[in-house]
Amino acid sequence: MTTLHWQPEFALQQPRMDRTHLEFIELLGATETAAPGEATDAALRALLAHTEAHFEQEERWMTQLGFANENCHSMQHASVLQVLREVMRRHGLAADAALVRYLVAALAEWFPVHATMMDAALAMTMAERGFDPETGTLLQPLAADAEAMTGCGGSACG
Ligand SMILES: [Fe+2]
Ligand SMILES: [Fe+2]
Repeated sequence: MTTLHWQPEFALQQPRMDRTHLEFIELLGATETAAPGEATDAALRALLAHTEAHFEQEERWMTQLGFANENCHSMQHASVLQVLREVMRRHGLAADAALVRYLVAALAEWFPVHATMMDAALAMTMAERGFDPETGTLLQPLAADAEAMTGCGGSACG
Protein backbone atom coordinates (compact mmCIF):
# COMPACT_ATOMS: atom_id res chain seq x y z
CA MET A 1 0.00 0.00 0.00
CA THR A 2 1.53 3.30 -1.05
CA THR A 3 1.25 6.57 0.84
CA LEU A 4 -0.56 8.73 -1.71
CA HIS A 5 -3.70 7.66 -3.57
CA TRP A 6 -5.99 9.41 -5.98
CA GLN A 7 -8.73 11.28 -4.10
CA PRO A 8 -11.93 12.65 -5.66
CA GLU A 9 -10.92 16.21 -4.69
CA PHE A 10 -7.84 15.93 -6.93
CA ALA A 11 -10.07 15.94 -10.04
CA LEU A 12 -9.96 19.52 -11.35
CA GLN A 13 -12.20 19.04 -14.40
CA GLN A 14 -9.17 19.65 -16.60
CA PRO A 15 -8.54 16.25 -18.24
CA ARG A 16 -4.95 16.81 -19.28
CA MET A 17 -3.98 18.15 -15.85
CA ASP A 18 -5.88 15.36 -14.08
CA ARG A 19 -4.16 12.72 -16.22
CA THR A 20 -0.74 14.21 -15.43
CA HIS A 21 -1.54 14.24 -11.71
CA LEU A 22 -2.65 10.63 -11.75
CA GLU A 23 0.62 9.70 -13.47
CA PHE A 24 2.54 11.65 -10.81
CA ILE A 25 0.80 9.68 -8.05
CA GLU A 26 1.58 6.41 -9.84
CA LEU A 27 5.26 7.32 -10.28
CA LEU A 28 5.52 8.39 -6.65
CA GLY A 29 4.04 5.00 -5.66
CA ALA A 30 6.53 3.24 -7.96
CA THR A 31 9.36 5.13 -6.25
CA GLU A 32 8.06 4.13 -2.85
CA THR A 33 7.82 0.43 -3.72
CA ALA A 34 10.96 0.13 -5.89
CA ALA A 35 13.61 -2.29 -4.70
CA PRO A 36 16.55 -0.51 -3.05
CA GLY A 37 19.49 0.51 -5.20
CA GLU A 38 19.30 0.73 -8.99
CA ALA A 39 15.55 0.21 -9.22
CA THR A 40 15.04 3.16 -6.90
CA ASP A 41 17.47 5.23 -8.97
CA ALA A 42 15.45 4.42 -12.10
CA ALA A 43 12.17 5.23 -10.34
CA LEU A 44 13.58 8.58 -9.16
CA ARG A 45 14.75 9.38 -12.71
CA ALA A 46 11.29 8.61 -14.09
CA LEU A 47 9.63 10.69 -11.36
CA LEU A 48 11.95 13.64 -12.00
CA ALA A 49 11.51 13.53 -15.80
CA HIS A 50 7.74 13.38 -15.42
CA THR A 51 7.68 16.16 -12.82
CA GLU A 52 9.81 18.42 -15.03
CA ALA A 53 7.35 17.90 -17.91
CA HIS A 54 4.36 18.26 -15.55
CA PHE A 55 5.57 21.61 -14.22
CA GLU A 56 6.67 22.86 -17.66
CA GLN A 57 3.21 22.09 -18.96
CA GLU A 58 1.49 24.12 -16.21
CA GLU A 59 4.00 26.97 -16.54
CA ARG A 60 3.48 27.09 -20.32
CA TRP A 61 -0.27 27.38 -19.72
CA MET A 62 0.32 30.12 -17.15
CA THR A 63 2.47 32.05 -19.64
CA GLN A 64 -0.23 31.69 -22.29
CA LEU A 65 -2.81 32.95 -19.78
CA GLY A 66 -0.76 36.04 -18.92
CA PHE A 67 0.80 35.07 -15.58
CA ALA A 68 4.19 36.61 -14.82
CA ASN A 69 7.10 34.17 -14.93
CA GLU A 70 7.86 34.85 -11.27
CA ASN A 71 4.47 33.82 -9.90
CA CYS A 72 4.23 31.89 -6.61
CA HIS A 73 2.95 28.72 -8.30
CA SER A 74 6.03 28.49 -10.53
CA MET A 75 8.30 29.28 -7.59
CA GLN A 76 6.82 26.38 -5.64
CA HIS A 77 7.46 24.11 -8.64
CA ALA A 78 11.08 25.24 -8.70
CA SER A 79 11.54 24.38 -4.99
CA VAL A 80 10.09 20.90 -5.47
CA LEU A 81 12.36 20.24 -8.46
CA GLN A 82 15.37 21.40 -6.49
CA VAL A 83 14.60 18.90 -3.70
CA LEU A 84 13.91 16.08 -6.15
CA ARG A 85 17.17 16.69 -8.04
CA GLU A 86 19.15 16.84 -4.81
CA VAL A 87 17.66 13.59 -3.49
CA MET A 88 18.36 11.91 -6.83
CA ARG A 89 21.94 13.17 -6.82
CA ARG A 90 22.56 12.01 -3.27
CA HIS A 91 20.88 8.66 -3.85
CA GLY A 92 23.08 8.17 -6.91
CA LEU A 93 26.17 8.71 -4.78
CA ALA A 94 25.13 6.38 -1.96
CA ALA A 95 21.79 4.57 -2.02
CA ASP A 96 19.94 5.93 0.99
CA ALA A 97 16.53 4.34 1.46
CA ALA A 98 15.69 6.61 4.40
CA LEU A 99 16.22 9.70 2.25
CA VAL A 100 13.88 8.34 -0.42
CA ARG A 101 11.25 7.49 2.20
CA TYR A 102 11.52 11.06 3.46
CA LEU A 103 11.11 12.42 -0.08
CA VAL A 104 8.06 10.24 -0.78
CA ALA A 105 6.44 11.29 2.51
CA ALA A 106 7.17 14.97 1.83
CA LEU A 107 5.78 14.82 -1.72
CA ALA A 108 2.73 12.87 -0.53
CA GLU A 109 2.07 15.68 1.93
CA TRP A 110 2.84 18.45 -0.55
CA PHE A 111 0.83 17.23 -3.55
CA PRO A 112 -2.73 17.34 -2.11
CA VAL A 113 -2.24 20.92 -0.90
CA HIS A 114 -0.62 22.05 -4.16
CA ALA A 115 -3.19 20.34 -6.38
CA THR A 116 -6.24 21.56 -4.49
CA MET A 117 -4.97 25.14 -4.14
CA MET A 118 -2.51 26.24 -6.83
CA ASP A 119 -3.38 23.76 -9.57
CA ALA A 120 -7.08 24.17 -8.81
CA ALA A 121 -6.71 27.95 -9.16
CA LEU A 122 -4.95 27.45 -12.51
CA ALA A 123 -7.64 25.03 -13.72
CA MET A 124 -10.31 27.54 -12.70
CA THR A 125 -8.55 30.38 -14.55
CA MET A 126 -8.26 28.14 -17.62
CA ALA A 127 -11.98 27.39 -17.50
CA GLU A 128 -13.00 31.00 -16.87
CA ARG A 129 -10.90 32.28 -19.77
CA GLY A 130 -11.98 29.52 -22.15
CA PHE A 131 -8.42 28.25 -22.54
CA ASP A 132 -7.88 25.12 -24.59
CA PRO A 133 -4.65 23.46 -23.40
CA GLU A 134 -4.45 21.32 -26.53
CA THR A 135 -4.31 24.29 -28.91
CA GLY A 136 -3.34 27.18 -26.60
CA THR A 137 -6.36 29.19 -27.81
CA LEU A 138 -8.14 31.57 -25.46
CA LEU A 139 -11.74 32.64 -25.82
CA GLN A 140 -11.08 35.60 -23.52
CA PRO A 141 -7.56 36.96 -24.08
CA LEU A 142 -6.14 39.56 -21.69
CA ALA A 143 -6.32 43.13 -22.88
CA ALA A 144 -3.10 44.17 -24.61
CA ASP A 145 -2.30 46.66 -21.82
CA ALA A 146 -3.18 44.32 -18.93
CA GLU A 147 -0.55 43.75 -16.24
CA ALA A 148 0.94 40.25 -15.99
CA MET A 149 -0.59 38.33 -13.07
CA THR A 150 2.00 37.90 -10.35
CA GLY A 151 -0.11 35.74 -8.00
CA CYS A 152 -1.30 32.22 -8.77
CA GLY A 153 -5.01 33.05 -8.53
CA GLY A 154 -5.37 30.94 -5.38
CA SER A 155 -7.25 32.09 -2.28
CA ALA A 156 -4.02 32.17 -0.22
CA CYS A 157 -2.30 34.36 -2.74
CA GLY A 158 -2.50 38.14 -3.19
FE1 LIG B 1 0.21 20.00 -11.15
FE1 LIG C 1 1.37 23.08 -10.13
